[in-house]
Amino acid sequence: MSSTTKGQYSSTDDVIDLLKAQHGQIRDLFDLVMHSEGQERKEAFEKLVRLLAVHETAEEEIIHPMARSLPGGDGIVDDRLAEEREAKEVLSELDGMDPGDPAFLKSLDKLRMDVLTHARAEERYEFDRLRDEFSPAQLKGFAAAVRAAEGTAPTHPRPGVESAKKNMLAGPPAAIMDRVRDMIRDARDKD
Ligand SMILES: [Fe+2]
Ligand SMILES: [Fe+2]
Repeated sequence: MSSTTKGQYSSTDDVIDLLKAQHGQIRDLFDLVMHSEGQERKEAFEKLVRLLAVHETAEEEIIHPMARSLPGGDGIVDDRLAEEREAKEVLSELDGMDPGDPAFLKSLDKLRMDVLTHARAEERYEFDRLRDEFSPAQLKGFAAAVRAAEGTAPTHPRPGVESAKKNMLAGPPAAIMDRVRDMIRDARDKD
């Protein structure tokens, strides 16, 4: 996969492929945040927060409920949900920190390892086993809902505009999660 983080997933029509592609995009964004500084780091982190909010909510609405029906599914899903809860806690801790603070990088590195381990477990225990559980129409419909949800993430604040940054990082993760949840539930109800 390309290491760029813009626009390469727009043609993904299958929600499992889309979420898998987002795992790659999340990994790339972690790398970018770790290896950049100043404004660039700030912007990469904001992108990462939005993508994680969309991605984890989509999994909570689409993937985990279906995975419960797999043999041993309850244990698998409970483990994934516990990992997601922990990641959200670290994420909200980071959200209030200055990306230039050395403690930021330390927490970010912990989050990176937790999220990437979590993603590998999802692919192995859920994604690869779930493809046959969804109908082709569901795979497509959910992909469209997740892509639409990504498009509703707030537009990027102008560099140096403090209030925009605050606006963006203070409310959005929770707001994005609510919006994604609504969009996916609408898609499911229409199915
Ligand atoms: Fe997840
Ligand atoms: Fe995931």
